Amino acid sequence: MQNYKVVDLFCGAGGLSKGFLDAGYDVVLGIDYDDAALETFQKNHGSATAMKLDLYNHENIEKIVDFLKERNIDNLDVLVGGPPCQGFSYAGKMDINDKRNFLYIAMVKLTERLRPKAVLLENVLAMIEANGGVGARRVIDDFRAIGYKMVPKVLFAPDYGVPQIRKRVFFVGLRDLVDEFCFPEAMLDPAHYITCEEAISDLPSLQTDKGEIVRGEKVQDYMTEPKSDYQRLMRKQSLKVYNHVGSVPIEKTRKMIALVPEGKNYLALPDEYRGLYKYHEALTRYNSKKPSLTINTGHRSHFHYKWNRIPTVRESARLQSFPDDFIFYGNQSEQFKQVGNAVPPLLGQVIAEQLKKYI
Ligand SMILES: C[S@@+](CC[C@H](N)C(=O)[O-])C[C@H]1O[C@@H](n2cnc3c(N)ncnc32)[C@H](O)[C@@H]1O
Repeated sequence: MQNYKVVDLFCGAGGLSKGFLDAGYDVVLGIDYDDAALETFQKNHGSATAMKLDLYNHENIEKIVDFLKERNIDNLDVLVGGPPCQGFSYAGKMDINDKRNFLYIAMVKLTERLRPKAVLLENVLAMIEANGGVGARRVIDDFRAIGYKMVPKVLFAPDYGVPQIRKRVFFVGLRDLVDEFCFPEAMLDPAHYITCEEAISDLPSLQTDKGEIVRGEKVQDYMTEPKSDYQRLMRKQSLKVYNHVGSVPIEKTRKMIALVPEGKNYLALPDEYRGLYKYHEALTRYNSKKPSLTINTGHRSHFHYKWNRIPTVRESARLQSFPDDFIFYGNQSEQFKQVGNAVPPLLGQVIAEQLKKYI
């Protein structure tokens, strides 16, 4: 197969471009300004280069053009990117004029300069929902002005085999518009969504028989043989467990978590404790028979469906569909951030496969 060339802007750990790699594309370059994320990208994307650039500064776009020229890449096939979304995010202050909301312009500028066959941009739902969808309107208008008709679509990760309730908006624009891009159809119906248990039950508990949480070693053995097709898929290239270090909760929190039944949250606590929490997802224990809640960048409000601790980086990565041989670098909070920021690789892969029909 011809290897289509891909550049990933705002690459983070590279969940989105990992999906493109797994679909057989040639990811040549990832750009971000976060050192830990770039290290993770570099070590998990074969021969791709991780480049540190500040994409607020549009003069840096020329450095990307030069890089591709030096490697004799005259025609870029796909530009992908998940520009930061804190400015739109419901979790943040949601100021539509937050300067981070204009970072996508780096993608517009690079598209204009390189004219790739396709552009894929991912973001949070607030981009199409908040303030009458002004964020999405800007993206669509700016790309239209340079000849790309962006088609938006909200995708729900469990529909594509990801064991996590995660909704994001994806925009795809094609240079040589023959047909409008048609997003892939859902692959699973809700009765067959991959569950938390199917996703992570083979990973070490990090809990002693007495119920104490331990940190565990840097590299560990699996607790059991794989128990589901999903676990077999995640373990395909891996013999050991990495990034599975437990966060030991203080005694008060551990006792509190122990009182929350599976699938419930702080509202299930006795009256005297309930009032301590306001956040609607506080102290949520995952339901083993359902996909997890949306993996965030490490707010520490979600708990394992069985053990009295927050999910580890590896468990969160599994719920995001990162395979076990994809190892995260940086300190633990940087690792959580990289995992929570990412597009689930399986979802990226499904879109990448569909895109082949158009380019
Ligand atoms: C939502 S994350 C992207 C996640 C990625 N698409 C994935 O699938 O793993 C956004 C990224 O933009 C990066 N970023 C934020 N501001 C930036 C800037 N001014 N220049 C370059 N990168 C920036 C952040 O460090 C973060 O890694």
